[in-house]
Amino acid sequence: MVRMNKQFMSALLIALSLITLSSCGKHEKPHFIYMPDMYWTKGLKYQQPGMKPPVPGTISRGYYPMPVAMTLEEAGKAYPNPLRATAAVLARGQHVFNNNCIVCHGPGGEGDGYIVPKYPRPPSLLSDKIRNYADGNIYHVITNGQNLMSSYAGQIRQEDRWAVIHYIRALQRAKKPTAADLKTVSN
Ligand code: HEC
Repeated sequence: MVRMNKQFMSALLIALSLITLSSCGKHEKPHFIYMPDMYWTKGLKYQQPGMKPPVPGTISRGYYPMPVAMTLEEAGKAYPNPLRATAAVLARGQHVFNNNCIVCHGPGGEGDGYIVPKYPRPPSLLSDKIRNYADGNIYHVITNGQNLMSSYAGQIRQEDRWAVIHYIRALQRAKKPTAADLKTVSN
């Protein structure tokens, strides 16, 4: 019984060291690729050697790059909202708000989300400060975060960020309508 165990142990040791050794060295071409899409990424597939390089400054469709170092003030000046506030855009903005922002900022944007007060109460999105923000300023907060609020760039597509800004404007007008909002439609 004891001898069997010893034999078994040495066989195991040999097997283990073979496995360990076989993974040493440089693998130019691994025999087995676990997740091919991670190995040959999408970017690589589209950019093959010999292809014409893109014209300098080329960006992909629907992509509004924001330099990492761009400040909130600069973003406010550089980025007007590329979307018009159509009914479809507002509906999309509401969907994005209710799925991403409502937990903290509350259904009306007043900072009374379900997570408060376990999570510190965020400032109201209906404040004069945010009313006076350009859309690009709000876009900067959603994209880069601000103090306690983290970046939502990973979760929310760029177009959806602009749509949610239109929805925040609608919340602001609902709370404090402007003269133009109060104009009755005569027909
Ligand atoms: C996890 C909670 C949380 C979520 C989710 C969240 N925020 Fe915030 N947000 C905060 C907090 C907290 C602050 C205040 C940060 C600070 O101290 O500057 C803030 C600040 C802001 C501000 C700046 C307000 C000001 O007065 O400076 C804007 C604009 C904003 N959030 C928009 C959004 C939008 C739009 C979403 C959804 C896409 C969102 N936030 C999602 C917590 C959150």
